[in-house]
Order: sequence, then structure tokens, then C-alpha cells
Amino acid sequence: MKQYFHIVTYGCQMNVHESEKIAGLLARLGYESCDKIEEADIVVFNTCCIRENAENHAYGNIGMLKKLKAAKRNMIIAVGGCLPQQIKKAEELHEKFPFVDIIFGTHNLGKLEDYILEKRARKKAVIKIEECDGSVIEGEPKLRTSYPNAWVNIMYGCNNFCSYCIVPYVRGRERSRCCENVIEEVKGLLNEGYKEITLLGQNVNSYLSPTGGMKFNGLLDKISSLDGDFRLRFMTSHPKDFSRELAEVIAAHDKICNCVHLPVQSGSDRILKAMNRKYTSSDYLKKVEILKKYVPDCAITTDIIVGFPGESEEDFRQTVKLVEEVDFASAFTFVYSKREGTKAATMPDAVPEEVSKRRIMELIELVNSRTREHSARFVGKNTVVLCEGYDEKKGLYLGRNEYGRMGYFESKEDVFGKFVDLKINKANGISLYGDIVNVRG
Ligand code: SAH
Ligand code: SF4
Ligand code: F3S
Repeated sequence: MKQYFHIVTYGCQMNVHESEKIAGLLARLGYESCDKIEEADIVVFNTCCIRENAENHAYGNIGMLKKLKAAKRNMIIAVGGCLPQQIKKAEELHEKFPFVDIIFGTHNLGKLEDYILEKRARKKAVIKIEECDGSVIEGEPKLRTSYPNAWVNIMYGCNNFCSYCIVPYVRGRERSRCCENVIEEVKGLLNEGYKEITLLGQNVNSYLSPTGGMKFNGLLDKISSLDGDFRLRFMTSHPKDFSRELAEVIAAHDKICNCVHLPVQSGSDRILKAMNRKYTSSDYLKKVEILKKYVPDCAITTDIIVGFPGESEEDFRQTVKLVEEVDFASAFTFVYSKREGTKAATMPDAVPEEVSKRRIMELIELVNSRTREHSARFVGKNTVVLCEGYDEKKGLYLGRNEYGRMGYFESKEDVFGKFVDLKINKANGISLYGDIVNVRG
């Protein structure tokens, strides 16, 4: 009889890709993917703990499975990822949801098959959390789910310890993959017909190949020199390490998208210092200036936190000023969320919730008006999107241009996975609407 798996993913792109690795392991055990959670024989929650609401989201969804599990006793429920990587949270999960069969962390994802076999052989829950041993696992099976886009890890972990952030505690120290392995993986994906490759790392600028010492700029240069009709993206760049050389590499290669995510977090130097970001707002503006000099049409996107401990009205005004100055193509805005175990969790002067709320509303409004303005710039112009799906509701195909804008369009032929040149006739928020001018590939 066929056995099915269903994976629920929370958090960043890194986690989305990690779920593709979990799917690969489950497929190797003989499971097939299914869309409906009720039909699954194994459900895996791949969790995130970057902010409290990410945790609550997972807790809510896991809790909802209690009834299903009671009705379907042989169903295996596994919870993994960043949330249980914190031992205390793993214990809490087990206490709160005793019906969960397997709990594992970020560093032992590769052992999930063993844990499933172990669980099948016994009644008790299998709870395994391991510390980071600094190793880089290669050759895991992957069941990719985002054709024509493919994610490729170039490094794991983070050494930056931004004072608000839990990532270094749940992903371990920074370690890079060997450049040969990364390049081989990309070559394989291009051979399979993938059209967009996104290189992943918490801080891609500090990539350093353990073999040969290749750095990030070299890696980008090498990959974008490979044959084939494809686009290359990367995330995330830390502003402290963003260099003129990187801007030059982006400018030199058409295949590298003119789109850079450069999280600023705050416009106040006092707050940036307390955040341990290691740059000032003027350092950041200088980097933006360099980037725009070499790549004039570059779409710059960012992340901003409001309500960091001690953030005064004046600090917030400086964030607003910076957003007004930089002309971001879009921005993710977050209310600071206290993460136990981080340095900021011990800082005094918490910002009252209603103040953070007011600030984020103001910021969202500003960011949205800028986003709309950016979208409007495409109207009347041509832009190439990579078709990545069909929107049933709208009855339109959709695809992203190199600047990250989603374009919707009608097509009689199936253009999934193809580069489509659109003439944009309408913009709505972050979305563009257009007509096909040309289909490539
Ligand atoms: N490595 C990336 C992304 C890390 S997490 C980077 O350095 O930018 C993605 C974003 O979540 C961060 O950029 C930050 O804006 C936000 N974030 C992280 N911890 C947070 C916290 N405790 N509260 C609110 N937002 C947070
Ligand atoms: Fe977190 Fe900072 Fe590392 Fe990004 S660079 S993952 S924000 S500690
Ligand atoms: Fe990503 Fe969330 Fe972990 S943002 S690294 S899944 S804490």
C-alpha cells in the first residue's frame, strides 16, 4: 500500500529548501507526497522561531492535529527545525503535544529516516536534538518543489550575533560548502532545465570555500559564467560586508539579477550599535550609493525592525528618513520580538506594544507607497518574467522579473518555466499586469 507524506514549512527560504531535503529523505523511505494533511501517513512540521508569531503559528497548527492523530493512530507526526533546536522548546513541545512522535533539530535533519524507523519499532516519542558539529553534509537526496526555481545552499549558520536574533543559536557557526560541490550542484540543476538559481546563506558575503579559498565574488563570477539560459540570485547580504567588488560582479554579468536584499534593520546609529550590526546609517547609505553607481537599475530590498529595546521616537524618525532616502523597491517590516537567550532579551526599556504598532503602521504605509511607485515605473515598458505558475483564481500565468516584481499575463500556450517578455499595461501594489510580446526557450 502507498504511504504518503505532507510537510508544513514555516520561516525563511533556507527552511523551504530544507523541507525539500526532508521530502527527499521521505521519498527514499518510500513515501509519496500528498496535498491533504488528512491523507498523510507522516506529517512533518519544519518550524521557525525567528519571532514569537512564527512559533505560535506552528504551535497552533500542531495542536490542530490532535484529533486527527487520535482517529488515525498509525500516523506519524514529526516536528523539526529551528524551534525544537532549542532544548527547552523541544521539551515544551513534548509536554504540550504528547501525541507528537518525533522531535528533531536543525543539525540532525539527515537522520530523520533512522528516527522514523525507530519510532515504528517503539511506542515512546523519539526526541533527538544535537549540537552543531561544524560539519557540512553533502549529497542528501532532495525532492525539489519549486521548478523552474532552485535553491542552493552555499553556507550554513551565522557568526554575526545581531543582538535580537536567534539564528546563530539554532543554526550554529558559519561554515561554507566547497565551491566544487556548489558548482557541480548548479551544473546539474541547469542540465535538468532549472532556469533560476538562488544561492542561500545567512550572510553570503562571508562565503569562503574550504577548498581553494574561493570567496563569494569568485563563486558568483564562476556560476554566472556557466553556459545556459538562466538567472542567478543570492540572499542574504549583510551590509557590513557588501563591497564595491560585489557590485562590480553584479554589473558584469547579465545572468545575475539586478536585485539585492540588503537588510538595514534601523536608520538610527544608536539602535544599530545596540543591535550589533557593525555599520552606521551613513555606512549603509554609502554602500547603496556604490551599488547604484555600478548597477543603476538595481532593485534594493530590505528588512526593518521597529520597537527594538530603547528605540525612541527620534530613533524611529531616523528609520523613516532612511527609508525615504533609499528608494527601496520593497521592504519587510517587523515588530521586534524578544527571543530568550539573545543579548537583546536582557536589554531594558522595552517599547510598549501600542507604540510599536503605531510605528509599524506608519512604516508599512510609507513602504507600500514606495512599492506602488516602483511598480508604476514598469507601466508602458517591457519586462522579462520567468513563468513560475498559473493563478487559478485570476485565470492568469505569473512570473517574476529580475527585480522581483510579479507579473500576471494571459497565454494560450503553456509557458510554464519559460522566460516571457511582457509589455506591462497595469500595476497594482506589488503586482504587474501585461501582454506577451515574446516567449524565449
Ligand atoms: N540573515 C539574514 C536574515 C535573518 S532573519 C540577515 O541577516 O538579514 C530575517 C529578518 O528577520 C531579519 O533581517 C530581521 O529583520 C528579522 N528578525 C530577526 N530577528 C528578529 C526579532 N527578534 N524580532 C523581529 N524581527 C527579527
Ligand atoms: Fe540573524 Fe544577524 Fe545572522 Fe542575519 S546576520 S541571521 S540577522 S544574527
Ligand atoms: Fe529561518 Fe526561522 Fe530558522 S528564519 S533560520 S527558519 S529561525
